[in-house]
Amino acid sequence: MWPQVSLREVSREDVPRLCEWLQDEEVNNTWYGCDESGAPVHVGYTPQNAADCSSEEWEHTFQSEERKIYSICNADGEHIGEGQLVMEPEVRSAHMFILIGRKDLWYQHYGASAMIHLLDEAFSSHGVHRVWLAVPEYNEPARFMCERIGFVLEGRLRRRQQRGGEWYDSLSMGLLADEYIRRRPGLLEQVAGT
Ligand SMILES: CC(C)(COP(=O)(O)OP(=O)(O)OC[C@H]1O[C@@H](n2cnc3c(N)ncnc32)[C@H](O)[C@@H]1OP(=O)(O)O)[C@@H](O)C(=O)NCCC(=O)NCCS
Repeated sequence: MWPQVSLREVSREDVPRLCEWLQDEEVNNTWYGCDESGAPVHVGYTPQNAADCSSEEWEHTFQSEERKIYSICNADGEHIGEGQLVMEPEVRSAHMFILIGRKDLWYQHYGASAMIHLLDEAFSSHGVHRVWLAVPEYNEPARFMCERIGFVLEGRLRRRQQRGGEWYDSLSMGLLADEYIRRRPGLLEQVAGT
């Protein structure tokens, strides 16, 4: 069975944990790597700066209508990762990002389970028509997770991601609202206790 997870708002206490996860080379290597100064790169905001930013800056980042950012928690309410939906209202799409920062939990379907919640947010709460991810070609676990959920390979984004000084292609993987509606009952059957 897949584990139960939940989404909640990001709290100030979550940010140092995210920084700690991103310091791990194995984690940042599959995520966005490090910048020229060696600092791990994140998407949407810089966790190193967010920990003690002003309330205005916090609100700007974490209450944005354009980029929805969620903390992912396990069944005990412990923070284990982060999900983001970047809204593309002109085309009723959302670009999804997902990170299970606790690498001791990788390959146990926390990612797949969290995706169901992110897709519910995107399709039900925000009424999008399509959700997509850019999966680096070297990131097999992410590709398997997307395929398991029902994402379809839509194209290849050439040299989109840099790792260790080399450029790699990313796979554009998408899921449409009607496809998700059809698959959702079967996916929920996989989650413990549902
Ligand atoms: C990618 C990521 C979110 C996946 O989360 P996860 O909880 O490990 O994912 P899941 O367990 O739901 O799915 C992983 C799949 O990869 C498979 N897999 C791939 N490599 C594996 C390995 N070395 N060991 C075990 N399983 C592996 C699993 O079997 C599973 O497929 P299945 O459902 O067919 O069994 C997580 O590894 C992560 O956060 N990585 C860093 C950030 C990242 O890469 N984000 C995605 C960018 S597109």
